[in-house]
Amino acid sequence: MVTFTEVKNNEEIKTYIRMADETLKSLKFTEHSFAHVVRCADVAGQILSRLGYDRRTVELGQIAAYMHDIGNVVNRIDHAQSGAVMAFQLLDKMGMLPNEIAKIVCAIGNHDESTAYPVNELAAALIIADKSDVRRSRVRDKADLDIDIHDRVNYAVEKSKLTIDPEEGKFTLSLTVDENISPISEYFEIFLGRMLLCRRAADYFNMKFEVTINSLKVM
Ligand SMILES: [Fe+2]
Ligand SMILES: [Fe+2]
Repeated sequence: MVTFTEVKNNEEIKTYIRMADETLKSLKFTEHSFAHVVRCADVAGQILSRLGYDRRTVELGQIAAYMHDIGNVVNRIDHAQSGAVMAFQLLDKMGMLPNEIAKIVCAIGNHDESTAYPVNELAAALIIADKSDVRRSRVRDKADLDIDIHDRVNYAVEKSKLTIDPEEGKFTLSLTVDENISPISEYFEIFLGRMLLCRRAADYFNMKFEVTINSLKVM
């Protein structure tokens, strides 16, 4: 069985993650490198584990989340689909079983906003982990804060925490936002679609998805 540790230590995959982020850096996107994908893997794994999925499903979720953005090396447009095809090739070469690869490419291919859908448990966990990764350290250049709303909103987020509460049946994304940097309305201007997608992903698990900003429930 191909393990998450093997995937994380695979130099070829590391190269694609690094170079996909280089592409996005040129396009002025926020950080999508190891900090992003390792965090997504961690959160996706926590979601699946807290919701009682077996250890192998948790591990497949971690692998899908770690590899989910490699398609950006091809192009930002349709990066979910190109990333899924790349992941197929890489995992097949490592000897992963087809039924496991199928679940992973399905999750990767369905994570990007415009075409996202929680088609399986890995996809649902990946969507929540990916779309809730908003934080100051994703901003590459403070000089762009005035002109780039994504930078401004991410920079304004001083703290971000996703709580998974299976007993209450809900996920809560709690954000501490410096409203002097970005008003809360800007958060929703760019993230409303993503938050609705998280709600749909939570719904896959029969759970709710709530957002609090500066201790106020906003969604
Ligand atoms: Fe992505
Ligand atoms: Fe991502």
